[in-house]
Amino acid sequence: MEQVVNLCKRRGFIFPSAEIYGGFRSTYDYGPLGVLLLRNVKDAWWRSMVQLRDDVVGIDAAILSTPRIWEASGHLANFTDPLVDCKSCHERWRADKIDGKCPACGSSDLTEARAFNLMFKTHAGPVEDAGAVAYLRPETAQGMFVNFANVLRTTRKKPPFGIAQVGKSFRNEITPQNFVFRTREFEQMEMEYFVPPPEADRWFEYWCEARFAWYRDLGIPEGDLRLRHHDQSELSHYSKATADVEFRFPWGFDELEGIANRTDFDLGAHSSASGERLEYFDQATGERYVPHVIEPAAGATRTMMAFLISAYAEDEVAGERRSLLRLDARLAPYKVAVLPLSKNEALVPLAREVLALLQPLTMCDFDVTQAIGRRYRRQDEIGTPFCVTVDFDSLEDRSVTVRERDTTAQVRVPIEGLREHMRERLGLC
Ligand code: GAP
Repeated sequence: MEQVVNLCKRRGFIFPSAEIYGGFRSTYDYGPLGVLLLRNVKDAWWRSMVQLRDDVVGIDAAILSTPRIWEASGHLANFTDPLVDCKSCHERWRADKIDGKCPACGSSDLTEARAFNLMFKTHAGPVEDAGAVAYLRPETAQGMFVNFANVLRTTRKKPPFGIAQVGKSFRNEITPQNFVFRTREFEQMEMEYFVPPPEADRWFEYWCEARFAWYRDLGIPEGDLRLRHHDQSELSHYSKATADVEFRFPWGFDELEGIANRTDFDLGAHSSASGERLEYFDQATGERYVPHVIEPAAGATRTMMAFLISAYAEDEVAGERRSLLRLDARLAPYKVAVLPLSKNEALVPLAREVLALLQPLTMCDFDVTQAIGRRYRRQDEIGTPFCVTVDFDSLEDRSVTVRERDTTAQVRVPIEGLREHMRERLGLC
């Protein structure tokens, strides 16, 4: 964990936010590599959940919204954590996460637990009165429910169909912790899948399997993943059944994603609160019903952290230790690094020619600093699957060396066929 956190800061994946002011309450900024990795995680999710399906469409709903949504969804009443204060050192804790003693000073002299609402409250407009109260969304999900009728009308979908969204959510977590695992500002990737009620159990199983497979197919070993079904006492107020996809974090198995059978709770609640009919009319059968919802809800930032931890490795190459990120090529920030062997006047323009050839295909890095060995180490450490080296022979034979990150195996490839070669090895269509 410490190595990954260091690497993130040293190489430009994730920086503590507002660091020049001493940081700000467990918030983080995504640097030049982090923004690429996070985008690739979100793109991989979108590709599998929206692009490769004909039954799911996307939306991008507002972050700021009326309290009426959160009243209907139950968040105003129920989205709370039990909070206790330590009477000795005055630290605050989530009562359900500590063992009756203050983790800071060991005192067991704690206040009674009280409910603390996790939503961030603000005011929309210049007047800060009760009528102007608004909340930052604590989940993206409600955007899909309140747009159910809009999507149904405009896309002509029929159940089973889904609405997907990727975006920021905000929770005033009492104890943000473990780097970007639990933060107050984070990104979610959620999909609400609307189904005929009798099919809900079957689709719940389907999405549990599909979502487990997504993490495995992107390179997390199956042994570091598990699907854990919640028992009755753990279920949220809206859920009939929930299973978590969990990853083996350094502190043990913990949640990456929850898959929930939300029944007709949300559409029913918004229907009663807004007065709008949120149901599906099946013209073929003449039947009118409120669909049930299966929701796979993942954290993008948390998932990115799991991919980083899972990919981190150390090995030895020609008697030298190296650390590397064995990231799947689809997730790697840069897919290819173009490296002229030296800063030689003739090599750099040819290397730039190679870069220009590959850039339209995929995300490339270009590095002329330091000795070639050190540049390979750097690319290994940031997870770049391939390095393309332009050397003095390249000036004669118009070929380059392609080096693979994990095996360090090298092959010589003519510049002419390089784009096709890289397309194939990166598995690009
Ligand atoms: N719509 C249902 C929902 O939001 P959730 O289990 O509260 O369910 C879904 O959140 C996912 O969002 C979690 O599995 C986790 O990956 C991510 N997540 C939740 N709170 C988070 C936080 N404070 N920091 C980072 N990720 C978080």
